[in-house]
Amino acid sequence: MNNQTHPTDEHSPPPDEKQPLSTGAAGDDDTTQIRTSSAPSGSSHIRSFVHRRAHITPGQKEALDRLLPQWSIPYQTSVLDLAQTFGRQAPTVLEIGFGMGETTHAIAARRPEDNFLGVEVFNAGVGALLKRIDGSDVRNIRIIQHDAVEVVRDMIAPGTLAGVHIYFPDPWPKKRHHKRRLVQPPFIALLASRLAPGGYIHCATDWENYAEQMLDVLSAEPLLANTANGYAPRPDFRPQTKFETRGLRLGHGVWDLIFQRTSQAAPAA
Ligand SMILES: C[S@@+](CC[C@H](N)C(=O)[O-])C[C@H]1O[C@@H](n2cnc3c(N)ncnc32)[C@H](O)[C@@H]1O
Repeated sequence: MNNQTHPTDEHSPPPDEKQPLSTGAAGDDDTTQIRTSSAPSGSSHIRSFVHRRAHITPGQKEALDRLLPQWSIPYQTSVLDLAQTFGRQAPTVLEIGFGMGETTHAIAARRPEDNFLGVEVFNAGVGALLKRIDGSDVRNIRIIQHDAVEVVRDMIAPGTLAGVHIYFPDPWPKKRHHKRRLVQPPFIALLASRLAPGGYIHCATDWENYAEQMLDVLSAEPLLANTANGYAPRPDFRPQTKFETRGLRLGHGVWDLIFQRTSQAAPAA
């Protein structure tokens, strides 16, 4: 097993914050990873991820070195021009935490008329998605390797997204870690403000307690309306992931939630 890491994975874990792997953790099929709490100095919000010394294959490392400049956009503090980024005007869907990118790639292949902006912090995952893009004729994906909270806040203009995908986000099962969960009222309000009217937020999880939290938080957001009566059926475009399959085998349920942006104006930021 190759232990090569990228410099951004080099944060040392505080020993008291070790986090067991979740069934949905990206990349946990090919290596043992320890998730730890770390908030880089200067950050003003609680991170929903931790830097980890993750296994990265030589192929993923090579893809990062060779393909990142071609398919990724560096984080910036100004709004991104989506049409320029993708080289065309098309509905743009943001995916947060794409893990190894298999779902991202499959959906982008199924929906060539849409743009997909994938945000992920995990080096091996970014390398894996770059490899998938390189080995296929899928051209409607761009990647930002950065904290999605900051990307949405700083780079996405209000009222511009056609959709948001959040699939199997880290469940942070311990109660004292729930504050790290991505689906929280302030972030959902921010995401809702970035959706165009009619745009959607699609979440999926295999953690019942997180599904309940998602349903509560999304239902309470005034800019969103549920498209289903409670949980939604899995739409045809979302393939069943490896982790989902394993979760189902372990007896976990899977809950999809699809909410739509109403035409109501977002409050001024
Ligand atoms: C449990 S994995 C799920 C991966 C994938 N969506 C799937 O279904 O297999 C969650 C992923 O979200 C990423 N992540 C968590 N918080 C993030 C954030 N704030 N910005 C970007 N990525 C994040 C993690 O690095 C991890 O790869």
